[in-house]
Amino acid sequence: MKKLIIANWKMNPPTLKKAKELFSATTNYKLQAKNAEIVIVPPFIYLSELLKIKNSPKQSTLATGQIKLKIGAQNIFWATEGAYTGEISPKMLKDLYVDYAIIGHSERRKYAAETDEMINKKVIAALKESLKVILCVGEPLEIRKKGKKAAMNFVKNQLQKDLKGLKGKLLNNKLIIAYEPIWAIGTGISATPETALETIKYIKKLLITNYQLLTPRVLYGGSVDSKNIKGFLQHNEIDGALVGGASLNAKEFKKIVELTNKIN
Ligand code: 13P
Repeated sequence: MKKLIIANWKMNPPTLKKAKELFSATTNYKLQAKNAEIVIVPPFIYLSELLKIKNSPKQSTLATGQIKLKIGAQNIFWATEGAYTGEISPKMLKDLYVDYAIIGHSERRKYAAETDEMINKKVIAALKESLKVILCVGEPLEIRKKGKKAAMNFVKNQLQKDLKGLKGKLLNNKLIIAYEPIWAIGTGISATPETALETIKYIKKLLITNYQLLTPRVLYGGSVDSKNIKGFLQHNEIDGALVGGASLNAKEFKKIVELTNKIN
């Protein structure tokens, strides 16, 4: 299966002009990508404009060579429409031809006080609209310091709550898990490939046994860049990367994609 490289731009860049420039520089080159699938996840406010660029005839011939390029959203709300000031529904995103939604990112858990119960509702709502879900899980530093068993239990508990009531057909080919240890996000200190691998293997085992997923896809995220990407993706079990800071630099992101492409 192709490796999935997801660019989470977070709340960047600060203007539409810069967002368009970054999008073009990130996607506007021909690359014979046999092994990578790319998802760009900009702030909501840029989605329409970037989708216009993506779908313009000029861009689609130039853009992606053989790369599959998709667009995602950084969050969703669980209702379809109604009196929910400031929220965006999965249906609205689907209407724009957005394919993916990140749900449960640790920054939303922290700054928007999202609970596992809210995240569970969002996952269910996204799946109902056939959005592919990128569900983020990962432990904070104080838990990792207690050892790998504590970290794995933390992640297991998140999955239990976030995927409550879901399994099998409802999730197959629709759910992607991003293992993002909080201590590795934006710190410049990534997990080692070994730590990422053992946690991802554990997550996959859970997804198969407890949620009846046939072919679970689990990514690593947290200070991924062109220097460390190979270390993660050379392992078959690591299905891709969720890239934050490094995706804001088009050259760096291109390097990440090119290196991914070389992994067999
Ligand atoms: P960084 O790559 O900046 O550490 O961010 C990771 C992340 O949170 C992606 O969702």
